[in-house]
Amino acid sequence: MQTVLIQLDTDPHPSSFDQVVAVDSGIDRILSYGGVAENTVEPLVHGAIFTRGPADLHHTAIFIGGSHVESGERLLRRVQETFFGPMRVSVMMDSSGCNTTAAAAVAAAARHVSLPGTTAVVPGGTGPVGQRIAQLLAAEGAQVTLVSRSAARAADACDRIRTAVASCASPGRLIPAAATTPDETAAIAQNADLLFAAGAAGVRFLDSRHLAELTNLQVAVDLNAVPPAGLAGIEPADRAVRRHGIVCYGALGVGHTKMKVHRQALQRLFTASDLIFDTAAIYRLALELEADGPV
Ligand SMILES: NC(=O)c1ccc[n+]([C@@H]2O[C@H](COP(=O)([O-])OP(=O)(O)OC[C@H]3O[C@@H](n4cnc5c(N)ncnc54)[C@H](OP(=O)(O)O)[C@@H]3O)[C@@H](O)[C@H]2O)c1
Repeated sequence: MQTVLIQLDTDPHPSSFDQVVAVDSGIDRILSYGGVAENTVEPLVHGAIFTRGPADLHHTAIFIGGSHVESGERLLRRVQETFFGPMRVSVMMDSSGCNTTAAAAVAAAARHVSLPGTTAVVPGGTGPVGQRIAQLLAAEGAQVTLVSRSAARAADACDRIRTAVASCASPGRLIPAAATTPDETAAIAQNADLLFAAGAAGVRFLDSRHLAELTNLQVAVDLNAVPPAGLAGIEPADRAVRRHGIVCYGALGVGHTKMKVHRQALQRLFTASDLIFDTAAIYRLALELEADGPV
């Protein structure tokens, strides 16, 4: 029986990126739908769960994507509410690549540092990836300073993340901060153990002298692959490269794991009909793959 992935995208055009990854994951058929919302998704879910018998439903799965993370989260909830009894298929949610990218970045840091009790700074933390990085770190018990150009946006993002981690055993504190210059960002990161640059493509947060000045820093991750680097001095291909005594990861160094996590999660969807690859499950997979792979 062919494997079928039903791609539900909240944007008008279903993501070509997500389609290519699905093809590369070996899925036989990808059925793509754009502009999907909570009030239009039910017939698409019925098409997934009523076409094959319960014993064969693991050959069908759903992928939820799009550029708007909160819309994707609402869609995930609605899809799960539509399932009943054995009439369900496995689902993965990765709007804007937030879960796979953040999971790969935090899992990379977790190879070098025990996260509970650490202090982390996330410039660009209001974006889809930065918010998820902050969420995963706080869920692990790290204290996270989320940095934006706007104090209000940072505070809003921290509020959302506090809600998301409220049920975790001992979530770390979330501290909003504002910075508009490299010197201000460096001052916020002065005593941090971990630094994750999650700004938009081409946005620089630190100049070349700053990394050497951050003497407490243990791991620095720059997710920006578009020149100039987000953290000057880190190369895109860096993967656990030591610079000024700091373990550095660049966008391609993290991207390698991110792509592996995305493909593996898609493949695992077809091993059962009741799996949910959400933020926490994708992070667990990233930790597993990082633990198995070379540094
Ligand atoms: N390596 C990988 O595998 C991978 C995968 C996916 C994404 N990425 C990269 O990860 C990064 C984060 O992705 P994203 O989608 O979350 O990013 P995003 O939403 O485009 O931007 C994140 C934040 O950057 C800040 N920002 C925007 N323009 C800025 C400017 N001129 N100066 C300073 N800050 C600015 C904004 O925060 P404020 O407005 O609140 O300041 C924004 O919320 C991007 O560089 C993306 O290309 C990497």
